[in-house]
Amino acid sequence: MKIGIDKMAFATTDQYIDLTELAAKRGVDPNKYTIGIGQDRQAVVPPTQDIVTLGARAAQKLLTPDLARRLSTLIVATESGIDNSKASAIYIKHLLGLDDYVRTVELKEACYSGTAAIQFARGLVALNPQETVLVIAADIARYGLNTPGEVTQGAGAVAMLVSANPRVLAIEPTSVSYSRDVMDFWRPLYATEALVDGKYSTNVYIDFFKNTLTRYQQRTGRELADFAGIAFHLPFTKMGKKALEAVLQDRTDAVANRLRDQLAASQVYCRQVGNLYTGSLYLGLMSLLQNGAVAAGDRLGLFSYGSGAEGEFYSGIIQPGFATALSDIPHDLAGRHQVSVAKYEQLFNSQLGMRAEDVQFDTQADQAPFVLAGQKNHQRIYQRR
Ligand code: CAA
Repeated sequence: MKIGIDKMAFATTDQYIDLTELAAKRGVDPNKYTIGIGQDRQAVVPPTQDIVTLGARAAQKLLTPDLARRLSTLIVATESGIDNSKASAIYIKHLLGLDDYVRTVELKEACYSGTAAIQFARGLVALNPQETVLVIAADIARYGLNTPGEVTQGAGAVAMLVSANPRVLAIEPTSVSYSRDVMDFWRPLYATEALVDGKYSTNVYIDFFKNTLTRYQQRTGRELADFAGIAFHLPFTKMGKKALEAVLQDRTDAVANRLRDQLAASQVYCRQVGNLYTGSLYLGLMSLLQNGAVAAGDRLGLFSYGSGAEGEFYSGIIQPGFATALSDIPHDLAGRHQVSVAKYEQLFNSQLGMRAEDVQFDTQADQAPFVLAGQKNHQRIYQRR
């Protein structure tokens, strides 16, 4: 029985900054951001958006009443949880109006947990092929104003249905996970911005990619030639290039060049929104499927990485219905509007964050279908429009 990703949808905020403007404000050569880091635009998050509103927005794009009725479980994967106890999945389930007989849970391991969610969902469907599991990978990547990580911030959510007979990607049985206790990026309970050893984290990422790919190849006997393309977790687009080049080295043959071209196709959307943490690999997968030279029957590799650290390499076969089972990302990105760096800084500093007092946000400026209206008696107040 084929099990895998049946449908995918992406949501981000409605505004962005141009990173050449950010470079000018920070006194940096813009080529460092657009070429050295490989990012052009970055999603800007108003205080009325968080992982719950973004996750609900992504899920709303792919659910029909019939699909909603078939859901057994909703798993939200996130690094940017809004509560240390209550799962964001419960809030999202409520906003989407899902049946109460739906299991709801949140998973955490930095940027990796979206992949854990997919694998757990696969297991649930293998136990009961009638089940459909909704996986939402939603995050807001915050490093702080005027920090080295600032240019790699971003925000958004990818919602995915995992089921039998999937239309997008049938996941193959072999997957290799690899974890080590590493302090490359973490966020203590009292912090709203990540602590990161940036250079170290890029080296650990590459190390984990090489380790998991090598073990996958040993177990399956497959070569790089067996992949039409590889989708990477993309904290910034240059990271995928660094990892791919670490295994291609100076190869210039047709296979190596194909993988380079497909990598570029997988980076198109990340360049426009930035890091999604848990969702980045899956936005990269959507980008590869919508912009790459791929066809039904092709095998794709997927490399997932979460600091701390956990990596996983697995693969899937593209299914015939893939093109019609993905949300229209170019349309959504074209509908965003640009804001100034000053406006971004003001919005960055007006998040709910760790505040304990009652807060009421002005929701008029945010036309998103779900908004965070504020906080009352330590409870977040959400609105569905
Ligand atoms: N023109 C073109 N390129 C330029 C340039 C110019 N004028 N100036 C600099 N560059 C290049 C540099 O040569 C460098 O390229 P290479 O990496 O290929 O050598 C690149 O731009 C970046 O320059 P620096 O190394 O000087 O950049 P930095 O010190 O400001 O930090 C960073 C870069 C470490 C990635 C930082 O942005 C950071 O800490 N980011 C957050 C951490 C991160 O994303 N880590 C990724 C792995 S961890 C992970 O994947 C989990 C997760 O999601 C966080």
